[in-house]
Amino acid sequence: MATLVVNGVKREVQAPADTPLLYVLRNELQLSGPQFGCGLAQCGACSVLLDGKEIRSCVTTLAVVAGKEITTLEGLPARWAKQKNLSQADAEKTLHPVQQAWIEEQVPLCGFCQNGMMIKATELLERLPMPSVPQIKEAFTTDGPSPHLCRCGSYTAIIAAVQLASTTMAKGGKA
Ligand code: FES
Ligand code: FES
Repeated sequence: MATLVVNGVKREVQAPADTPLLYVLRNELQLSGPQFGCGLAQCGACSVLLDGKEIRSCVTTLAVVAGKEITTLEGLPARWAKQKNLSQADAEKTLHPVQQAWIEEQVPLCGFCQNGMMIKATELLERLPMPSVPQIKEAFTTDGPSPHLCRCGSYTAIIAAVQLASTTMAKGGKA
């Protein structure tokens, strides 16, 4: 048994300590944003934020994350609401600017990789609010365990969405 803080809520989980975090999130906590792609830290489909840094949950065990703060795709709106001190009423109807930009730029094709893409974009924009195109490309390719892979080829739309989210975030969330 271990205690995790997932999307701002303390959760007790029963899985053995060597269980991959991805299995705990999907099977025990019913958080289906993170996807099982390769299972080898080579695609990024399973990414979550651990204390604000993108990690691959398919190769990260429960023991490593116990007591730490995890944010999944489902928790991005609340993460943004907390950062902006939004009221409860506003928080309930607000998506994270990254998610909103993904909708506006119509990024997903099959959608399978997009959890990791949005998690990576959020990590990038919290660290570097106005990234250049080369910096966006670097974030999704060389700055991590592996490139974030999209078999459908949505990369151009991803760059546009990161730029839109960056602009929206600089304005405080209003597109
Ligand atoms: S499923 Fe974790 S990196 Fe591919
Ligand atoms: S949208 Fe299909 S794999 Fe990326």
